[in-house]
Amino acid sequence: MSKAGALDLTSGLGGKMEKKDVLSAVDQYEKYHGCYGGEEEDRKANYTDMVNKYYDLSTSFYEYGWGESFHFAQRWKGESLRESIKRHEHFLALQLGLKPGQKVLDVGCGIGGPLREIARFSSTNVTGLNNNEYQISRGKELNRIAGVNNTCNFVKADFMKMPFPDNSFDGIYAIEATCHAPDAVGCYKEIYRVLKPGQHFAAYEWCMTDSFDPKNQEHLKIKAEVELGDGLPDIRTTKQCFEALKVAGFEVIWEKDLAEDSPVPWYLPLDKDHFSLSSFRLTAVGRFFTRNMVKALEFIGLAPQGSQRVQDFLEKAAEGLVAGGKKEIFTPMYFFLARKPLSGSQE
Ligand SMILES: C[S@@+](CC[C@H](N)C(=O)[O-])C[C@H]1O[C@@H](n2cnc3c(N)ncnc32)[C@H](O)[C@@H]1O
Repeated sequence: MSKAGALDLTSGLGGKMEKKDVLSAVDQYEKYHGCYGGEEEDRKANYTDMVNKYYDLSTSFYEYGWGESFHFAQRWKGESLRESIKRHEHFLALQLGLKPGQKVLDVGCGIGGPLREIARFSSTNVTGLNNNEYQISRGKELNRIAGVNNTCNFVKADFMKMPFPDNSFDGIYAIEATCHAPDAVGCYKEIYRVLKPGQHFAAYEWCMTDSFDPKNQEHLKIKAEVELGDGLPDIRTTKQCFEALKVAGFEVIWEKDLAEDSPVPWYLPLDKDHFSLSSFRLTAVGRFFTRNMVKALEFIGLAPQGSQRVQDFLEKAAEGLVAGGKKEIFTPMYFFLARKPLSGSQE
């Protein structure tokens, strides 16, 4: 169901934008980032444009390489990447204590891989919130193919200003998405507002860990590569996320960087020294093949101009992620389970 080949990949590249506009979008996107002279304040002020450009340009590559779920996973020995991704999703349903028929919100839902899985796993109704039009259209198509239209739907909106009444949902989760928020407190406050009192919010956050040294030039370079390659304004530390939850009004039930006890490192699929047939497209050899196919398709005009440059910044992201993971200064799975108190007011 996900992207079958390189032609399929390039046909979706650029998302909803005109193919002729891809190259200038790449230029504009790169200029937001530190490696190209961009400033954090500018990325935050223009986060909608920056993040949407990023996902218009990269969604096809994600789907081609990862499938329908765009996230990493804690992984056990003997477990395939696909199995670990599903288990990582089931874990959220379990932590939220989801019950059949409940109304659940997926904040920053991508093309809906996790929401289809969680809705089927827990017999709940899941709404996916996403601000990217192309991802929503792709998600709707995949919902229809999977036959989950009665229990899964999408809403196009910004998670900083959600179009839902107060106290709407029985459970809320976010997978590697709220890292795109220009301000964590503002985002968590919106989640708090639309969650019913006494109910739970669980997430996997992208964070810099306690080992990150903001004065270390190598650490800063890795952080900038991940920000450029992943459409992020500024990667927060685990402590900043924890504090932001409390400021938003949540009780934090438990939190932990799950990468610390993942027997198989989460970054292994992207590590150049690793080879796997089952996730071949993510390996160095697989990426080399993709690179050459994209190059050829761009040359003969079947892929839009700029396609290869998208792959270049995604490669940078992969390098930054692997380096950040190996040095343990970055994690894509700072997990927390938080509760809106029964007395929870909206202020
Ligand atoms: C790395 S993807 C993760 C997608 C999904 N959670 C998954 O695991 O497959 C991050 C998602 O957050 C969405 N997103 C980023 N900023 C957003 C915003 N301000 N409002 C709503 N969605 C946003 C992106 O469009 C994208 O779908």
